Amino acid sequence: MMEASQVVDIMELQDVEQVYAIDVLSFSLPWSERSYRFELTENDNSHPWVAEAVNAQGERQVVGMIVVWFIIDELHIATIATHPAFRRLNIARRLLANALVEGAALGAEKAFLEVRRNNLAAQALYQSFGFVVTGVRPRYYLDTQEDALLMTLEPLKN
Ligand SMILES: CC(C)(COP(=O)(O)OP(=O)(O)OC[C@H]1O[C@@H](n2cnc3c(N)ncnc32)[C@H](O)[C@@H]1OP(=O)(O)O)[C@@H](O)C(=O)NCCC(=O)NCCS
Repeated sequence: MMEASQVVDIMELQDVEQVYAIDVLSFSLPWSERSYRFELTENDNSHPWVAEAVNAQGERQVVGMIVVWFIIDELHIATIATHPAFRRLNIARRLLANALVEGAALGAEKAFLEVRRNNLAAQALYQSFGFVVTGVRPRYYLDTQEDALLMTLEPLKN
């Protein structure tokens, strides 16, 4: 039922509070609310989206988000997360699919992202889209000194 009431929509300033709450629940190094506002108001390369669901009270609730940077012909998946209470409902899959389709339509030739070496859930998601590991950024994450895997999807097809 929750899946049926999901929608993907462009992120707006009014969503930032809920987006930030998901970020804090999802990452050891969350972005600030201010950085989300920057993405919305000042970063012309940024394409931020939210997934929304209708809760028991009939209110719309942000349950996931993705921020993608489109630069020249590349899509950089900057962040993606689903609220912990709404995971394994295809929300991230839908957000990523939406971003990749939009990017391909804008002319992106490839998509890439960094992911923690230990983050097997996210890697499984990306692999299911055809992303492959194309590099390692050693000790990329400042909190744990963990490596980032660079994953790439190329070519991007619509
Ligand atoms: C990774 C994350 C975004 C996945 O969100 P989600 O909405 O639960 O993912 P989906 O339901 O769309 O899953 C799609 C597929 O990804 C894979 N996947 C997702 N979570 C997984 C898990 N915990 N273990 C293994 N595979 C997983 C599966 O292949 C899944 O398909 P399936 O459910 O049919 O098996 C979510 O776990 C999250 O927010 N994690 C914390 C933030 C994070 O790590 N973001 C990525 C940073 S690089």
